[in-house]
Amino acid sequence: MVKIPSSELTPEPVYLSRRAFLGGAGALSAAALLAACGTERFVSGTTTAGPGATAGLTDELGDPANSLDQITNYNNYYEFTTDKEGVARLAKGFTTSPWEVSVGGLVAQPRTFGFEDLLALEQEERIYRLRCVEAWSMVIPWLGFPLSRLLALVEPRPEAKFVRFETVYRPEEMPGQRDRHYPWPYVEGLRLDEAMHDLAIVATGIYGHALTPQNGAPLRLVVPWKYGFKSIKAIVKIDLVETMPVSLWMALAPMEYGFYANVNPDVTHPRWSQASERRIGTRARRPTLPFNGYAEQVAPLYAGMDLRQHY
Ligand code: MTE
Repeated sequence: MVKIPSSELTPEPVYLSRRAFLGGAGALSAAALLAACGTERFVSGTTTAGPGATAGLTDELGDPANSLDQITNYNNYYEFTTDKEGVARLAKGFTTSPWEVSVGGLVAQPRTFGFEDLLALEQEERIYRLRCVEAWSMVIPWLGFPLSRLLALVEPRPEAKFVRFETVYRPEEMPGQRDRHYPWPYVEGLRLDEAMHDLAIVATGIYGHALTPQNGAPLRLVVPWKYGFKSIKAIVKIDLVETMPVSLWMALAPMEYGFYANVNPDVTHPRWSQASERRIGTRARRPTLPFNGYAEQVAPLYAGMDLRQHY
């Protein structure tokens, strides 16, 4: 497993972009960042206790957060490599600043946002379980904002039914994108009502730090009730559309990776059971929870749908 010294956990481009943001983007955005990072929990989870310590953070079920070391050294990011323990090394130095995200399609106010514009939105901590379709999981303290807030700024038109997300295409920096086996760029999608749900966030940080490149810097989606592949990294384009987007995984293996991909212990992956999972950092398997433990909040989104049919 590749270890990163703590001194390198905030790579220079990210560090510099934060500095630029703090120095140049005005008091309002600086205040927003400080408000987000200044809580006792962030201080104890990062500065005082240092990377690797979870500082007593737990999810709402009482399970401890994974360490920063675990979260940043076991990753899925096929644009770099399919080797989970090799992503950190290959993604180090990936250019994350400047960064722009265009949000358009079926909206009244299409707009291109600089990353600084998004940092100016109020950032909050969300401690979520991340359940990979490969049956491992982690608990991650994200920093970010509800996706619904970003979508509200562009005013979706009534015809908009789905949201389509696209990752940056930069094969010169992302060696995995030179592999023509995959239909790059990485694409994901949500139904509009899923995207508007408060649990769906755009993440900009982990443990109060800027996101590391291997975790999707500078911004990625986090949809905690769905398998991790829905939580697309390094987003540059968001479009409101009328028809269901075809994700990279649907194009590649539609029988294995459906559009909905809600965590479901009863729907077996064609090649393995989803009934249990392994929490990274532990050996024992634990039962998979319907909707990854968020059923109370999100099950109403699927009322009347057969979730075996609509995997
Ligand atoms: N986004 C992009 N662009 N490329 C990827 O390969 N992998 C997905 C998702 N987002 C992936 C991606 C998968 S399969 C998972 S489980 C999560 O990212 C892993 O996120 P993490 O590395 O931050 O834990």
